[in-house]
Amino acid sequence: MSNLLVINSSANTGASVSRILIEETVDQALKAAPNTKVVRRDLGSDPVPHLTTANLAGVRGTPATEEELAARALSDELIGELRAADTIVIAAPMYNFSVPTSLRAWFDFVLRAGETFRYSEAGPEGLLKGKKVIVLTSRGGLYSEGPGAAADFQEPYLRHLLGFIGITDVTFVHAEKIGYGPEAREAAIAGAKGEIAKLAPSFSTVAA
Ligand SMILES: Cc1cc2nc3c(=O)[nH]c(=O)nc-3n(C[C@H](O)[C@H](O)[C@H](O)COP(=O)(O)O)c2cc1C
Repeated sequence: MSNLLVINSSANTGASVSRILIEETVDQALKAAPNTKVVRRDLGSDPVPHLTTANLAGVRGTPATEEELAARALSDELIGELRAADTIVIAAPMYNFSVPTSLRAWFDFVLRAGETFRYSEAGPEGLLKGKKVIVLTSRGGLYSEGPGAAADFQEPYLRHLLGFIGITDVTFVHAEKIGYGPEAREAAIAGAKGEIAKLAPSFSTVAA
């Protein structure tokens, strides 16, 4: 049985393109491997807190107060979900040329020294190995080619964050030009669904 961690980060609900695509991905994955265990984390509706003076020590320090201990417990829980997953699907809308702050806040809780990365004499080393990540992006404009490409601070950023914790088997599926009108939106969703159909059967095989 493989474990699939499904992470939403859109602040939108029904009309959200990334939510449509992530449900398609889960459906396809379950069709290919019905005994897949699906764990969901919805950062759009149930965000993790931003790091503040009150909770930082829970993630990057020694927790002592109630809030710091709660942050440590949440960080442990989120890292536990990551460790247990073979495949992680992240739905990442583009917000202001990067990721929603809800997703950024999640990374703040899972990038933890000694747990998901460590520093050695050779430099930083990611500690999460053998995992596959699919990132489903939804974007109002076009960034995969043309002049917009220079403003894509989403894909390179996510690749770097994931690589930093040891996850290098990362595939992006972009649904672009969502803001160009209903036809462009439908075409982008159809194109992304086609790519998902090709990817989903491989979820049950653990990454090398
Ligand atoms: C707060 C906010 C910021 C956005 N910033 C960008 C942006 O920088 N570039 C872009 O192409 N689209 C931008 N958009 C449009 C979204 O990327 C687009 O609507 C996408 O479909 C959102 O994903 P969702 O449908 O899953 O919610 C933004 C939308 C919102 C709500």
